[in-house]
Amino acid sequence: MVQLVALSLFIGLAVGHFGLKAVTVDGTTQVILFRQNNPKAPALKAPVRAGGTVRFNWTEIIKMHFGPTIAYLGELPTPSTKPTDVNFFKIYEKGYDAQKGKWANEIASDNSDSYTVQIPSDIKSGTYVLRTEIIALHGNANPISSSFLAGPQFYTYCFNVDVVNGGTVEPKGVKIPGAYTKEALRTPIYLPGEHDSAAIVAQGNELNSKYIVPGPLLYSGKYDAPTGSPPLAKETGAYPAELQAKYEAMAKKLAVPTQDLVKYVNTQVWQNGKMNDAGSSGFVAVVSKVVGERNKIINTTEFQELKAAIEKNRT
Ligand SMILES: *[C@@H]1O[C@H](CO)[C@@H](O)[C@H](O)[C@H]1NC(C)=O
Ligand SMILES: *[C@@H]1O[C@H](CO)[C@@H](O)[C@H](O)[C@H]1NC(C)=O
Repeated sequence: MVQLVALSLFIGLAVGHFGLKAVTVDGTTQVILFRQNNPKAPALKAPVRAGGTVRFNWTEIIKMHFGPTIAYLGELPTPSTKPTDVNFFKIYEKGYDAQKGKWANEIASDNSDSYTVQIPSDIKSGTYVLRTEIIALHGNANPISSSFLAGPQFYTYCFNVDVVNGGTVEPKGVKIPGAYTKEALRTPIYLPGEHDSAAIVAQGNELNSKYIVPGPLLYSGKYDAPTGSPPLAKETGAYPAELQAKYEAMAKKLAVPTQDLVKYVNTQVWQNGKMNDAGSSGFVAVVSKVVGERNKIINTTEFQELKAAIEKNRT
């Protein structure tokens, strides 16, 4: 188990929701701890062969958070290049699968909350930012689109990878933010309701099957199998053992309220592939309970001291 990027506890702090749990880069499982609230590019990275794969394992994904799964690469010419100056090209996208009648987030959920992307085999070697995201679009669906939860939600992670055994291509890219139009992010989608008629369901499925994943077209270069043996990731960026142990214990504690919320949504708000009225009306109360529980943890001296120790370790 290799740690790539030392980051903070504060992952998943926003109440919701779900986040990346583990990333497997070219066959080596990496526990990635992320930098949040810190726009500096991380110094640490994982090696991956051109043509190799990266698997993203998430914590329990919310099934009714319908939306696409996407991944980009963008060359990081120098460690100090700002992420907003990176040219990102899309290497993976899944939207609505009309044959399965499922969204990409549901398909990932069915697949142990994971999906796997392939690094193009013809891009030049070097350091890249790998960005992956799930965009949850339930806020574009009736009746949520008229509530305080209206609009898309982004579940986005970036980290560095070192592409090795590459080719010569330097794909053109797009800047993020800037790659998505507001219209694309506000595309209405259909979320089945408990009392919807067969006609509404049919219409809704048709609407969803027209969905187009936002952003640029997929990079259309080569996606051949990798050559050479898988690179060895070095243990790097780990916290000192004592800090790591404290971090893990705190992360576990903090995860409990969020996991309870996700369970509630996946079993009470969403039942048999439909919004459930009783569960939905209890949602706000559950959120406020979760917020309270998390605030209690965050308000402890233990949390604040750990946060300070992590900040110090980072500089
Ligand atoms: C990650 O997902 C794969 C399926 O793609 C699964 O077999 C594996 O157990 C998951 N690993 C973790 C750490 O959740
Ligand atoms: C956390 O601390 C803040 C500021 O001292 C306070 O306003 C808030 O009520 C506290 N929350 C909990 C859950 O204790």
